[in-house]
Amino acid sequence: MRKIGILTGGGDCPGLNATIRGVVEKCISEGIEVYGFMSGWRGALTGEGKWLTLSDVEGIQTMGGTILCSSRTNVMKEENGPARVKATMDKLGLEGLVAIGGDDTLGVANALRKMGMNMVGVPKTIDNDLFCTDYTFGFDSASNIAMEAIDRLHTTAQAHQRCIVVELMGRHTGWIAIQAGLAANAHIILIPEFPLSFDQIFKVVRDRFKRGEKYTIIAAAEGFELAGEEEGDLGVDAFGNRLLNNKDLGKNLSDMIERAIREDKTLNENRKYFESRSVVLGHLQRGGSPSVFDRVLGTRLGVKAGELAVNREYGNMVAISGTKIVTADLDTAVTERKEVGSDLYDIARLYCR
Ligand code: F6P
Repeated sequence: MRKIGILTGGGDCPGLNATIRGVVEKCISEGIEVYGFMSGWRGALTGEGKWLTLSDVEGIQTMGGTILCSSRTNVMKEENGPARVKATMDKLGLEGLVAIGGDDTLGVANALRKMGMNMVGVPKTIDNDLFCTDYTFGFDSASNIAMEAIDRLHTTAQAHQRCIVVELMGRHTGWIAIQAGLAANAHIILIPEFPLSFDQIFKVVRDRFKRGEKYTIIAAAEGFELAGEEEGDLGVDAFGNRLLNNKDLGKNLSDMIERAIREDKTLNENRKYFESRSVVLGHLQRGGSPSVFDRVLGTRLGVKAGELAVNREYGNMVAISGTKIVTADLDTAVTERKEVGSDLYDIARLYCR
């Protein structure tokens, strides 16, 4: 009997369960058993997990989170990490592993692949920043949550004639901020790919105030940094990701805007009453049930990943290109990041006034 393993690593996102189900259904239908490791790479190190049955995955595509749980364990930073993963796989008789994750999880899969282990990658992240795929599942659900939040902030900001800065996830790229910001009419969209100075941001808020616009909504990706600011050195996480030096971005920016408007003598007396607030949407963006797009994308990618295992086409990542499910080279997929381009950002700039 052929056997493979499966795990979900990194930050969870809506659509993971649909993918797990796709892999398990496809593999079992072809006579391959699937061992589900618990908590990402941590399970592959310790062996914690279980053989998945069809009833384990029945209907789970409607659920957020992951039935396998997740962690940010980095095998390459653990003592004898790769050897321990190999030993676990050998003990369970697994010929290969389907790793569902973002750049960190897939980076580990790629490193293990180079050491001779059979890997299939499945891209997932609400951040949508993985290379070689047009979309990652999780992004659509998260963007919808962010859009709805911004829609709601409009009415309260308008009622109090305030500025509201809403901080959205996206440490390296601004996909959620631009998608939700465009959809929900954020007046200013701030993303890491296109830094702006405080003066540039403030000018838009002040011009709106001067024109008598009642309020301003700013959608800011958490990784946005003001142009011209010194980079802090807060160290790195287990995967070498630089810790953000703009902690409290939303609050700090909001405070700076409030102060600057109140002190601006070119504005009328109303400036003295101007207030600004901030909202951090945080993990709300990752929680809850997946959108129809993410359920179907997760399902299609999962079935394709199962098919690659069936055909022993290891060393690949499954992806979506246009409307087609395709395969991409895992090594290429983890070497670059997919950033928001000027085509999309120029549209945001058009509305930024
Ligand atoms: O990797 C996806 C992501 O949602 C990022 O946008 C965010 O910075 C990070 O995860 C938060 O991770 P954690 O859940 O570990 O705080």
